[in-house]
Amino acid sequence: MSNETNRRDFLGYTFAAVAAVGGAASLVGMKKAWDPLPSVLAGGFTTVDLAALKPGKPETVTWRGKPVFVLKKTDAMDKDERDLIIGNDRFVVAIGLCTHLGCIPAWKKDVWKCACHGGEFNSSGKQTFGPPPRPLDLPPFGVKGTTIVLGEDGPEHKKIAAFLATQA
Ligand code: FES
Repeated sequence: MSNETNRRDFLGYTFAAVAAVGGAASLVGMKKAWDPLPSVLAGGFTTVDLAALKPGKPETVTWRGKPVFVLKKTDAMDKDERDLIIGNDRFVVAIGLCTHLGCIPAWKKDVWKCACHGGEFNSSGKQTFGPPPRPLDLPPFGVKGTTIVLGEDGPEHKKIAAFLATQA
């Protein structure tokens, strides 16, 4: 065998090895892209214990990749048909995306303010200032004791959704 043939064989084997490694790497990448996210594997449900909330201090949880605001209202905050009432407490559950162009509003004192174009939503999630055309959207949820399960479609959600539909 000539030196030239050996060299060609070596280049051929090298190319095959590099192609095999590259192919395996892309298969791993494709598998990752096809695999569902952990939240989807869990059925897309997010459980939130509302009893842990402090009045007037909303928390943000993630449900199916979206921020969801959960607020326990203080006694000084307006009562609203949208409120989820559990025992003596009133809660607001709302998708945390501005209904104007989808920015995430921030809680300032007692309203959610959107930094993008100055929109504001009150403690009931209703738009009160700026360009947002409607209240913060309502995610589906079910209630079990003081816990809500985002992604379920319980009677409490249906009732509030029916009220919001009359406001549109
Ligand atoms: S995106 Fe919130 S006011 Fe425009």
